[in-house]
Formats: sequence, structure tokens, C-alpha cells
Amino acid sequence: MDRFNGIPAIGFGTYPLSGVEAERCVAAAIEVGLRHIDTAQMYGNEKAVGRGISASGVKRDDVFLVTKVDPSNLGAARFADSVKCSVDDLGTVPDLLLIHWPPSDGDIDGPVERLLRAGEQGMAKQLGVSNFSPRLMRRAQALAGGKLICNQIEFHPLLDQSAWLATARELGLVLTAYSPLARGKCMEEKVVQEIAARHQRPASEIVLRWIIQQGVAAIPMTRKRENAASNLRAAEFTLTEAEMSTISALGNRNLRLINPSWMRSWD
Ligand SMILES: NC(=O)c1ccc[n+]([C@@H]2O[C@H](COP(=O)([O-])OP(=O)(O)OC[C@H]3O[C@@H](n4cnc5c(N)ncnc54)[C@H](OP(=O)(O)O)[C@@H]3O)[C@@H](O)[C@H]2O)c1
Repeated sequence: MDRFNGIPAIGFGTYPLSGVEAERCVAAAIEVGLRHIDTAQMYGNEKAVGRGISASGVKRDDVFLVTKVDPSNLGAARFADSVKCSVDDLGTVPDLLLIHWPPSDGDIDGPVERLLRAGEQGMAKQLGVSNFSPRLMRRAQALAGGKLICNQIEFHPLLDQSAWLATARELGLVLTAYSPLARGKCMEEKVVQEIAARHQRPASEIVLRWIIQQGVAAIPMTRKRENAASNLRAAEFTLTEAEMSTISALGNRNLRLINPSWMRSWD
């Protein structure tokens, strides 16, 4: 499996899984070979995710675990305690700790400083951000002295994120694609289905291949063991330049699925 800045190219998203189902799905994802698990304080499933990793029987060091600090915990009074709570709930230090969303006032300096401190205190092995615009990525990476490795954003063929990708590459950050299948909408596209038929693979694998072939990691969520196994197979083949361009052209749909009210602007 390719790794980008140490992050396995294909992973497993855990929202909105919870409880026993989250535990079962995480264990199944690891059993079929996935080695990158994504959770967040906001998902309320960190305990279950930690149990799922243990239940898989795979060594902890062989799994790349990501969690994220909730927007309500970005202030000085709560940041460190919330991260300690995540570590306790997960039962382990995460490989990557992200700021889940930039604060609604857009002032990222305090939260980024607190993120760096959490790293220095051994509460995470690597650090990054999520939902940061190119401008905020630039500011955050400057504050961090180049230490951030990742920005996790909505990324799939139906949304043009080329400006995000260019900035991330320039700054030495890797993008991780959330909602990489656009929750199934990408697989409904005729051109994706035609390319899938040519490769004799499911449309979902074509979409994930398009993502990872650009050096972007992807964290699809699935409740089905066979779909988790299929997602991993996106690492097994290559799309032609022409196929990549055909899929990229779908970006003019401008379909942004995740746009919460607190994100007043994506600039
Ligand atoms: N940082 C953030 O702000 C943020 C925001 C949103 C999401 N996320 C993360 O990103 C993860 C993934 O995003 P998402 O769940 O929104 O969207 P997604 O992964 O694009 O779509 C999930 C849907 O795709 C289906 N699916 C998965 N693999 C499939 C396959 N091989 N064939 C057919 N269908 C398949 C699943 O159905 P089945 O169960 O039937 O397979 C599920 O309904 C989340 O779980 C979360 O960890 C992060």
C-alpha cells in the first residue's frame, strides 16, 4: 500500500458508526487489510474505535489511527483535556491529531499553538488540520514551522479541489479525502461507470483510484466487509491519463456535501 507522508493511501472512515457496530466495522476493516482508521471527538465513537482496533488482533503499531479535536474544544481551557480524553478513550496515542474545523472567528493561531503543544507533550505522533482553506493551510503551516503533515477535506470527482491540492503540495502537506465517494453519488456518473466497465471493476474502485493516483489519501466509510475489501483493491491498478482527465472534468458539478453553518467562508 502506498503511503503519503506516512499515511496509508486507503483508509476507513467511522462516521456515523457508533457502539458495537463501530467496533465490528473497524475490526472488519483491519481484518481485510486496511491499516488507516479515521475517527474524531465529534463522532462520539473513540472508545468503540479503540476496541475495534484491539479486537482485530493486528499489532497497534501496524494501524495508522487519526482523531480530531472538536470545534468546542479549541480554546485554551479545553484543548489539552479533550486530547487527553481522546487518548484515554482510544486506549492509545493517535498517529495523527487534527484540528477538525477552523474556529468560526477564523483565528487559528491559538488552536494551532495548542495542537503543537499536544504533540510536544506526546499526545499525538503527527499533527495536521481538517477543512482548512488554502489561505488557512498556509498560515497554519507557517505557525507550525512546517510540522503539519495533512489537511483532511471533502475531496471527490464532483468537487474541484485543485487549488487545495496545489497549495497542499507546495506546503508539503498531504490531503486526505473525506466523503471520497460523495456518499455514492460519484458511482452514478455515466463516465465513471464506463471506465469501470473497461477495467472490469466496481465504480467505487475507479473513484478511489482517481483520488489516490493524485497522491491524496482516501477514507471511505462502509458497513460492509466486502466493500471495505473492494476499497483496498483501488491500490491494485492504474488509470490512464485520459481516464484521469475525464473524471477530473466532473469537478464542474461543484457538489459540496459538507457545508456546516459555522463555515462562513471557504476562503
Ligand atoms: N473531516 C471532516 O470534517 C469529515 C467530514 C465528513 C466525513 N469525514 C470522514 O470521512 C469518512 C467518509 O466519508 P462519508 O462517510 O461522508 O462518505 P463516503 O465514504 O463517500 O460514502 C459512504 C457511503 O459509501 C458507501 N460505500 C463505501 N464503500 C463502498 C463500495 N466499495 N461500494 C459501494 N458503496 C460503498 C457506503 O455504503 P455501504 O455501507 O453500503 O458500503 C456509505 O453509504 C467518514 O466516515 C468520516 O470518517 C470527515
